Amino acid sequence: MENELQKLKQEAEEALHAISEIAHLEEFRVRFLGRKGLFSTTMRQLGQVAKEDRPRLGQLANSIKKGIEELFHDKKDAVESGCDTTDRDVDLSLPGRALSFGKLHPITQVMEEICAVFEGMGFAVAEGPDVETDHYNFEALNIPKHHPARDMHDTFYVSESILLRTHTSPMQARIMENQEPPLRYIAPGKVYRCDSDITHTPMFHQVEGFLVDRDVSFADLKGVLTSFTRRMFEKDLPLRFRPSFFPFTEPSAEVDIACVICGGTGCRVCKRTGWLEILGSGLIDPEVLKMVGYDPDEYSGFAFGLGVERIAMLKYGIDDIRLYYENDLRFLNQF
Ligand code: FA5
Repeated sequence: MENELQKLKQEAEEALHAISEIAHLEEFRVRFLGRKGLFSTTMRQLGQVAKEDRPRLGQLANSIKKGIEELFHDKKDAVESGCDTTDRDVDLSLPGRALSFGKLHPITQVMEEICAVFEGMGFAVAEGPDVETDHYNFEALNIPKHHPARDMHDTFYVSESILLRTHTSPMQARIMENQEPPLRYIAPGKVYRCDSDITHTPMFHQVEGFLVDRDVSFADLKGVLTSFTRRMFEKDLPLRFRPSFFPFTEPSAEVDIACVICGGTGCRVCKRTGWLEILGSGLIDPEVLKMVGYDPDEYSGFAFGLGVERIAMLKYGIDDIRLYYENDLRFLNQF
């Protein structure tokens, strides 16, 4: 009798384990647990065993039946709810799968850091459109049609008068024409140029900055940019102001920073010069001030346009700008 009960227990467990569909649950219940089922039939035979064995075997039969009933109810819940974890092949002691959280792209992180440094110096933040008019991108910045400076920009045109902005400088005119000095703004955003190599991508980010007030000089520009690099790189990296030309600033300078990738000894990123250009800058040209209705005898200002990817390359020691846009998670997860 005892053997029979143990065999029945094993048979019931195996039958239950194999069930994966609701229709088979009822079949199981009738076959094992029903009034004419195998448990009832076996338990009826208790009357034929020796009187002294009856209580012990009766108890055993009851506890086996109760155990199978509990397993049956668990299985029923699991199959009906569609998440059957009673399967013995599932190891419930295994650790769970960790949730993976998204992160900000390294360029977004650096952009936010740059903005925070300038906001700390009292600059307000403004954003403008990526799809821009020829007027704001060029004409309002003293670059008339057929001006040779347009060649510097490798522009993506949408139509004759609409284009993808090639720099964030259009924001100078957009803000100045609606406000009176004193002004102190930064304008972060995406810009587009038909350009690609280890230090150029067709879409990249700039942060424009400008300040207009009375008696603004080149020394103010140098002071703001030196203070920015100190805070951004947390050390005193040498800066180099190199005379340059932009139609909307006079005088103009490009600013280079000592290449942190090679420590200034020369590498492929800095083209063996030991310096990497990070921004263009200058004092706002009086023509631009006049076009927005400011009196250049009363007001002057400085402006600069920072390349965010270049700053990110220097900050993290990345020697190919294109890595930022290949979407390789092994690269991106490091930041
Ligand atoms: C300009 O875009 C000017 N608007 C900057 C300016 C603003 C000058 C205000 C004066 C006053 P430039 O073309 O040099 O300048 O670009 C500025 C910075 O953007 C460069 O120093 C470089 O860091 C970055 N840059 C330029 N082209 C690319 C590119 N294709 N990919 C990544 N970064 C680039």
